[in-house]
Amino acid sequence: MIGIFDSGYGGLTILNHIRQHLPQYDYLYLGDNARAPYGTRSFDVIYEYTLQAVNYLHQQGCNLIILACNTASAKALRTIQQRNINPDELRVLGVIRPTVEVVPQRTRTKHIGVLATPGTVASESYVIELLKQDPTLTITQQACPMWVPLIESGEHLGDGANYFVEKYLTDLLSRDSLIDTLILGCTHYPLLQSKIETFIASTNRRISIISQGEIVANSLVDYLQRHPEIVARISASSPSRSGGCLYLTTESAKKFEESASLFLAEPIRAQHIEL
Ligand code: DGL
Repeated sequence: MIGIFDSGYGGLTILNHIRQHLPQYDYLYLGDNARAPYGTRSFDVIYEYTLQAVNYLHQQGCNLIILACNTASAKALRTIQQRNINPDELRVLGVIRPTVEVVPQRTRTKHIGVLATPGTVASESYVIELLKQDPTLTITQQACPMWVPLIESGEHLGDGANYFVEKYLTDLLSRDSLIDTLILGCTHYPLLQSKIETFIASTNRRISIISQGEIVANSLVDYLQRHPEIVARISASSPSRSGGCLYLTTESAKKFEESASLFLAEPIRAQHIEL
């Protein structure tokens, strides 16, 4: 069974793509909605919360866990991999590495913009990982602290959200006029993608947007092709082998079911858990 973890609803944008590509496994989604957003929290707190979620998903039978959260990938993944898990029993993967791997093929100017939570920006993870791909890249980051709260509260489609979309994009684009590639470095941001595209079109700049769902799913397919031993483990722990997903949340199950419909095309049943 594959576990997908996010601080809230954002990881559902990754889950959708992974299930389409890998419908032969079972999934357990965990949203720590009661403690979201993570993006403004300290390293220690994000690490502690993420570790609790990883341990919980492992206890429920997941032997592969995707941190479908850039903030957790940036602030907790490496420490968890090094200190807290036995790779013979459990693999934990993040979303930043697969995302940066596609950037060199996409950019012509080699000027990259990164939109992310304050935690991800402060970690410099995107800058470090992008420069490993190509040390000649010029990277400008923009923290967008209001975007996750707008999405978690269901306010992202209204006119009020336009103000914060324009504010952060104007700030970022004014700092580098050569940016031709924009990474949505938070799994919540695809829900604002149409507003982001509308604003960019209004600036008459040609900028390609990198959204993570399809990229992370393709990367996972590739990873599993290289790791047949993990395929055997997740198949053995996927009883229905039908792409079924059980949704867990630390918030109210009813609230999760209502809000998740913004991200998913189908109605779902969720279960409340304590971490
Ligand atoms: N979806 C998470 C991410 O990718 C949201 C972070 C948050 O909770 O602030 O970073």
